Amino acid sequence: MPAETQNRAPRTVKAVIPAAGLGTRFLPATKAVPKELLPIVDRPVLQYIVEEAAAAGLTDVLLVTRRGKYAMVDYFDRAPELEAALSAKGDEERLAAVRRPSELADISTSRQSVARGLGHAVLCASAHVGLEAFAVMLGDDLIDASTPVLPTMLEIQAEHGGIVVLLADVPKEVVNRYGIASVESTGRADVVRITGLVEKPEPSEAPSTLAVIGRYVLPGEIFAVLRDTRPGAGGEVQLTDAMAAMLDAGTPVHGVVFGGRRYDTGDRGDYLKAVVEMACDREDLGPAFRDWLKDFVRTLP
Ligand code: UTP
Repeated sequence: MPAETQNRAPRTVKAVIPAAGLGTRFLPATKAVPKELLPIVDRPVLQYIVEEAAAAGLTDVLLVTRRGKYAMVDYFDRAPELEAALSAKGDEERLAAVRRPSELADISTSRQSVARGLGHAVLCASAHVGLEAFAVMLGDDLIDASTPVLPTMLEIQAEHGGIVVLLADVPKEVVNRYGIASVESTGRADVVRITGLVEKPEPSEAPSTLAVIGRYVLPGEIFAVLRDTRPGAGGEVQLTDAMAAMLDAGTPVHGVVFGGRRYDTGDRGDYLKAVVEMACDREDLGPAFRDWLKDFVRTLP
């Protein structure tokens, strides 16, 4: 084996999707329907996320789930009765659409018995992931497929090792909803070196307006750190706190700066924007929907 190949970090193949949260911001809908299954036009949010993983070559997907959210797992299974009915009708288009979720990736599950926070949800993946680097994709964070981020994040992790997060520049008044990074330049416009991380700072204390958003590539060593991470902001085990501890211990942490469209679909306002924008983009429904939308906007005060 050439030395160059020997030294390169092993290729990341696993994605972990934490989807065991309570979804309180979207109640009462999320009392019975997981927010990750809310439809964006005709596909659940979670399907877009698994499609994004598969497009980046991550076809070993672990879904972190909990009781009451079984429908998420069923969605990625085959549906023999439905498929037989569509097949008998000769409805090939819908048949393909119904089968597609089960063909995208190998889906496994792990259960988070109590919603103790994102850090704890990631820790629930330790047995499946082992010591390899892996990707984390939040189950309600939708990223426009025309601007994929995972390939660059995986490339940076293979080059530098350590942690790679996705960053977005957010308005100063909302920094207290995110993990916020202090950064320095790498000489590459879309990649920064992270020198500090703080979870949900007050706007007056935030080191920047660069917020960590729903995609991470993490080394397997993070599990040992998460086991020792005490509950932080909101009484939850924060992934940001574990990443900050690794940063302090000398682990390289890089950020890929994202300027494309993304939606926190667990937030009702962002969910509505996602549905409207994605509907406008669709080749089949888009033209008629855009015409209606233009007329509708004219009627607004
Ligand atoms: P959120 O911060 O959106 O939390 O989690 P949430 O509890 O689901 O939603 P709200 O704030 O009550 O409305 C981001 C992602 O992490 C998962 C969620 O399912 C979501 O996909 N998560 C969060 C877990 O898997 N476990 C947790 O304990 C918390």
